[in-house]
Amino acid sequence: MELKNSHAVITGGASGLGAATASKVIDRGGKVTIIDLDEQRAAATVEKLGTNNSHSWAMDVTDEEGINRTIEAAKEQFGEISLLANCAGIGSPGRIIGKKGVLALKDYAKVISVNLIGSFNVLKAVAASMQNNDTDDDGCRGLIVNTASVAGYEGQVGQVAYSSSKGGIIGLTLPAARDLAQYGIRVVTIAPGLFDTPMMDGLPADVQESLAKGTPFPQRLGKATEYAELLISIFDNNMINGETIRLDGAVRLASR
Ligand SMILES: NC(=O)c1ccc[n+]([C@@H]2O[C@H](COP(=O)([O-])OP(=O)(O)OC[C@H]3O[C@@H](n4cnc5c(N)ncnc54)[C@H](O)[C@@H]3O)[C@@H](O)[C@H]2O)c1
Repeated sequence: MELKNSHAVITGGASGLGAATASKVIDRGGKVTIIDLDEQRAAATVEKLGTNNSHSWAMDVTDEEGINRTIEAAKEQFGEISLLANCAGIGSPGRIIGKKGVLALKDYAKVISVNLIGSFNVLKAVAASMQNNDTDDDGCRGLIVNTASVAGYEGQVGQVAYSSSKGGIIGLTLPAARDLAQYGIRVVTIAPGLFDTPMMDGLPADVQESLAKGTPFPQRLGKATEYAELLISIFDNNMINGETIRLDGAVRLASR
């Protein structure tokens, strides 16, 4: 598939990994629809990318009707969608039995709802739209990329909800790719290690430094552009499908 003149939908595109991906798609001559809860930040990102080729919608990825409407409107504006990057996510820590008591079910469910159910909600809406796309020479109609985390494999203390949500994304990748294969739609997941984004900024500097030191090589946090570059290379290679790719400098998270 050719990224030039194609249309990418990027959830969580107002910040971090999603914003870096939006920028790469624009650099390659594509058009970008950002879906993000943070209206102001999304609008500021679009301002930087250029309003001719990008647009943002303030929408919650867990809103089924809202996402269906947004995907239809996005297609109306920029044409058929060839790429979905599911980057919206939250990371609320909490131990099962913590200092404030037992983890409330609503707190666990909130993380699952945004990270896992929200990703699936957008995936299905975009797949429904992509099935009508023209094919490339290989019969490919589009690519859906989800964002898991290395915490989906080795979650740390306090990550029970986050790791469950990311493990769910890893689990849905192969069956989603198998379901959508007959329509020429690929599904791939990236599992990042520790990346320098506003989500990471929430941690104290010494914690960030020790996380970076725990990465064998390169011994630093990942750059959002490195995530975006992997995503674009997946787009360029039709043979990559149904797989979760770790992007982590060989880090394996310890228990805490
Ligand atoms: N930064 C890391 O080290 C790291 C590591 C592994 C995985 N990830 C995952 O990568 C993804 C992107 O993370 P990031 O570091 O860029 O975070 P970020 O906080 O910079 O960006 C996340 C974006 O998602 C948006 N968002 C949150 N909830 C939403 C909702 N319900 N509906 C729509 N938009 C919503 C936020 O407004 C924000 O703009 C997340 O899924 C995160 O779990 C990040």
